[in-house]
Amino acid sequence: MSKLFRNTATLLTVVMLISSCSSQNFTIIDHDPNRIMENEQSTDDISTANDNVVIEAVKLPEATSAEAEPIPKTVSELATVIAPADPPDITANLALDANDITSNDPPLMELSVKTSKKYTYEVQSTTGALSILGPNLVYVGEKFDFDYIYPGDHEKARVRWSVTGTAGSIASDGMFTAKEKGTCTVIAADITSGVTAALRVHCIAPGDDVDFIPLVNNIPIANKSYPLPKDYEPGLDPNAQAAFAKLQADAKAAGLNIFAISTYRSYTYQKQVYAGWMKLYGNDADLVSARPGYSEHQLGLAIDVNSLEYSFANTAEGKWIAAHCSDYGFILRYPSFDAAKYTGYSYEPWHLRYVGRSVAKAVEASGKTLEECLRIDSYYR
Ligand code: DAL
Ligand code: ZN
Repeated sequence: MSKLFRNTATLLTVVMLISSCSSQNFTIIDHDPNRIMENEQSTDDISTANDNVVIEAVKLPEATSAEAEPIPKTVSELATVIAPADPPDITANLALDANDITSNDPPLMELSVKTSKKYTYEVQSTTGALSILGPNLVYVGEKFDFDYIYPGDHEKARVRWSVTGTAGSIASDGMFTAKEKGTCTVIAADITSGVTAALRVHCIAPGDDVDFIPLVNNIPIANKSYPLPKDYEPGLDPNAQAAFAKLQADAKAAGLNIFAISTYRSYTYQKQVYAGWMKLYGNDADLVSARPGYSEHQLGLAIDVNSLEYSFANTAEGKWIAAHCSDYGFILRYPSFDAAKYTGYSYEPWHLRYVGRSVAKAVEASGKTLEECLRIDSYYR
């Protein structure tokens, strides 16, 4: 844990009044522009608004117990920790434990395969239990070390890797290189049994629009490295919604009040949210808000609950969420300040990500972030 977070006293509390050009008035009483009420979404670009922003700094008491969650003084302080001069080399340090995410219980069996206009999840094909571990998106010029899972016979499998098409190449050890823009298919074949698995991989350049849903180990991903199509508008995932309703009911039975304050956010809405943060923090906005097209709220698989204050973690509801959310298929996606070097975002004890129960349990047991479990990074190219 960084020393920066130990001496915490001040948290900016912001009262921001925005008058949009559509004459709707938004009142944001918090430090987080996500508080723009969802049921009052405007499709107007916030940059055209006649803004009147008032920022008030509020002193908070010093943390008194060792268990108390640290609070950063400012987002700028976070920036020095989170935003490295060079992208973090995550894959070099973290080997995937094949037990973290298993293909025995594919997450997409729990996450309904859904369509939104022309988008469908591209699930890898297999003729048996062999599964390829890796992303369906690699940036041109970059490498990804693909792996595989062959439950029950992993040690005995003799996998031969190959690629169809010219967009990428793969070495005998599974090291894939994205060579040019386009798509290709990575194939893993167990030469002893004839079982094969295939994964379609998109090779893109920084800033390219994507027309597919990023998947890593078949899990839908949106982070700074994995963008979403601008017009991907799935709404809140019905399985996530149902799981959250169950979570709420069980929390209520325990005497706790847990409620959603932000769920699905379209590309257009995220644009407004991010613009609000930019007005407050400039480039440091990137530490607390996803740019439009990079938020997992747009995936329809994220739910913010109760309060966008770090102190939420120390409330009864915050503790219950941390202890029980995996029972319902959720993980705390941005689980600590330290984890920001992997996730790309500051601590968010309120942000739940639905991954399905089996994956949630595996991630929780690993004690790692989703990025670490999946061997992926999160930074803007
Ligand atoms: N606050 C999270 C990172 C988002 O904007 O999606
Ligand atoms: Zn969130």
